[in-house]
Amino acid sequence: MTVTTDRDTAAPAGTDAPSHQVALAFEDGVTRFITCREDQTVADASYRQRINIPLDCRDGACGTCKAFCESGDYDGGTYIDDALSADESAAGYALPCCMKPTSDLVLQISATSDIAKTQAATFTGTVVELERLSESTMRLAIEIANRGDLAFLPGQYVNIAVPGTDDGDGGLLTRSYSFANGPHEERLVFLVKLTPGGAMSTYLTERATRGESISFTGPHGSFFLREAARPVLLLAGGTGLAPILSMLRKLHDDDSRRKVHLIYGVSTDTDLVALDEIEYFARELPGFTWNHCVSDPDSTAVNKGYVMSLIAPEHLYDGDVAIYLCGPPPMVEAVRTHVSDAGIDPTGFYYEKFALAVPATSSTVADTAPPSAVATLPVVLEDSVVPAADARAIAGQITLPVADISPWRGPMADLTDDDGRFRIAGQQMWHSTGNDRIVDPDDGRLLPADARGIAGQNVFSPRDIEPLATPQPASAAATVAADTPVAVAPDATTITPEGYQIGEEHPEIHESDAIFEARAALELGALELTFGRLTSQQLAGYRLLAETTVPFVEGDRFVDAAEYTETNANFHDYLFTLTGNTHLLDAYQALGVKGRMSEVLRNATWCHPLCAQDHVDIVAAFESGDRDAARALISAHADRSKQTMRRAMADEMAARRPRFVTPGRFAGKVVVVTGAAQGIGAATARRIGAEGGTLVLADRSDLVTELADELTASGAAAVPAIADLEGFGGAESVVAAALAAFDRVDVLINNVGGAINFKPFTEFTDDQIRAEIDRSLMTTLFACRAVLPSMVARGDGVIVNVSSAATRGVNRIPYSAAKGGINAITASLAMEYADSGIRVVATAPGGTQAPERRVSRGTPEPVTATEQDWFQAHIDQTLASSLMHRYGTLDEQAAAICFLASEEASYITGTVLPVAGGDAG
Ligand code: FES
Repeated sequence: MTVTTDRDTAAPAGTDAPSHQVALAFEDGVTRFITCREDQTVADASYRQRINIPLDCRDGACGTCKAFCESGDYDGGTYIDDALSADESAAGYALPCCMKPTSDLVLQISATSDIAKTQAATFTGTVVELERLSESTMRLAIEIANRGDLAFLPGQYVNIAVPGTDDGDGGLLTRSYSFANGPHEERLVFLVKLTPGGAMSTYLTERATRGESISFTGPHGSFFLREAARPVLLLAGGTGLAPILSMLRKLHDDDSRRKVHLIYGVSTDTDLVALDEIEYFARELPGFTWNHCVSDPDSTAVNKGYVMSLIAPEHLYDGDVAIYLCGPPPMVEAVRTHVSDAGIDPTGFYYEKFALAVPATSSTVADTAPPSAVATLPVVLEDSVVPAADARAIAGQITLPVADISPWRGPMADLTDDDGRFRIAGQQMWHSTGNDRIVDPDDGRLLPADARGIAGQNVFSPRDIEPLATPQPASAAATVAADTPVAVAPDATTITPEGYQIGEEHPEIHESDAIFEARAALELGALELTFGRLTSQQLAGYRLLAETTVPFVEGDRFVDAAEYTETNANFHDYLFTLTGNTHLLDAYQALGVKGRMSEVLRNATWCHPLCAQDHVDIVAAFESGDRDAARALISAHADRSKQTMRRAMADEMAARRPRFVTPGRFAGKVVVVTGAAQGIGAATARRIGAEGGTLVLADRSDLVTELADELTASGAAAVPAIADLEGFGGAESVVAAALAAFDRVDVLINNVGGAINFKPFTEFTDDQIRAEIDRSLMTTLFACRAVLPSMVARGDGVIVNVSSAATRGVNRIPYSAAKGGINAITASLAMEYADSGIRVVATAPGGTQAPERRVSRGTPEPVTATEQDWFQAHIDQTLASSLMHRYGTLDEQAAAICFLASEEASYITGTVLPVAGGDAG
């Protein structure tokens, strides 16, 4: 082990410093691995990768983070003796908040791995209330001594361990229930739908007594009432009323004047509960109205039917509404369809639905659904098919409601192959007899093997199919780890083992400010769960991540937008991680903030000057206990983030608009541009599109499709042609595509090319020389060969080649040779085809500024100082050769190309026009 200390070696953050693997070995035998750059402290890297280690001062002053380094080399950094004595250092101890690795490391962390993960807390309390609200519903109330330690948001749920049960693994069965009380109320209240044979139902109706001990974990879930002023539509199915009541209580507690309408739907009159409570809110909450319906046709209710029938246009505010919906999956889908059919795209659509998660039989109906779920379901649970979400799903979509899962009970003997049950979409899938039949001839049950397949594909795992033949004991489903999501659908809806599905949707979220509004709403929720509850270590980690964002913004400029995006994401992730609620973190990540920022800020230079500072100020507000300041900062930060994104998008659009335009100059012309996906090719294509040209955009990258879409959206005619022009086949395919689409090619612009390597000629290998020639000479040679026959046949055409001033330059000789070849092609083709009415011209660009390339040329990153010197030498030579001593712009290059391609240059052929600030090449 090699240690160096007291040396300030901090390289600027964001550099490509080498990185190393650091193994963090916790006291309980758990080892976690992180990647740490040489310019990062281990603590910094650890927190960025969401692994907490002991931390406090983060400055080498307290010794809290002290760890033993089993192996590896590092720079110990600067610290005081009180934190780490010379003896300790000599013995192999180090301070992760100061140490930077110079090799892979193994560190013994003086804590168990519990510190590295956050998890929902377990609470134990007492049953204080057992009230039968109706034939089908009970109210359970629990009190806990440490109520102050439990913070939850209105809408969240807990997993209650059902006393006197056995999950088959030595534990208790757990069932999920949403809080029906307000977050600030002492007593915790849950509504339980009574289901015959259900674990919780049996407990409550047969064994439960007041004063009994009961435990739960939580809170869980990201379904909660977001703070906002816009109107709210609440929809509750059955005892899905519980989280809605919690929301109403919170609104009441806040003296809210927000417009809120509740529609409450149940199956039968006996399922209606808490009407007095709702009436109370109708009197006390100024903006609150409500209605209810019962689906049973024999109901005495005024409104018979489903909740959708009571949704009126005035409840939807033309979409400026947040819809909160808790109920069974069919209800959620029906409401979503109903709202969509009404042409409404609500600002927020938050839902929590429940799909039963454990098997049930006619004699033991499992009570896995929270009260919210089952009330309006046409429950048919007496079959032997496991009624889990997955059993009803194809490709993650729930395709069968519970009622449809009931197995066929009719006679099986006379089934024939014609029977529809052996077909999918009209195709014969199975047979009624023989080896590939799916039904047991004796009892008509599905045979596991074939029933697992659809169209020959194994769709269900053996474990999943088992209950088809043999129902599992109810305890089995509860053996799944409580905090492990069992599925995350593509829309990032979370399905918990308890069967809850929680999701949120927003209109065009990736295209609007809504993404940051949604983040702020979630963060305000996370603040409620964490404020005043964070340990000094958690605050230290939060501050570390906040400060990590700061170096990447200077004034109102990004120093490194990509690194800012990365560190910003780590900062925001952390608060959600600290809630111990994975659903909240999932919900935040599902917004796609980081991806959207990466996309939009790719070329951004402007950043709101307070964006990074906000992070530090938010942490300071947490540290000082100033809740109002923290809340205000989170909201303000969302606004500043929106401004940053809007400015970046506007700048990007402005950059894409050609600076010069000669309207109509290419009207009626079909122009092929090669290498069109970016740089000079894209700028030229944009200008020709703006001047009325019809474009065929050729490139090996499918990014060219984005440009075609952009130009088409702006009114130009443009089609992409993805092809590798380094082979003649690629060139032929592009020309063929152009002729097929537009019958002719008026102009071919051979822009594709570019130096790959930058080094002295003697350093080039054979393969590298050939690669340069293929890229920058053969592409043009092939494209000219491919296009000329059709031009000659028409007796008309223009070819503009893009050469280079680098025909006289250093450290890219093969490229210079290729471009010299382009000049020769230009002069000679002009001579050979002038009589055919074809002009052949070229520009010779000098150094040109361009946004960072999205498709790499394949240039190896100069790593060593020598390689960097080689690379820099060609830049220095380019600037020195230009009389104007600057790089040109994309607009300046496109201007010359477009001039030569247009009728304005009708008397120019065989000419190479240098566009290089006086560098003649
Ligand atoms: S010395 Fe205080 S956290 Fe490292």
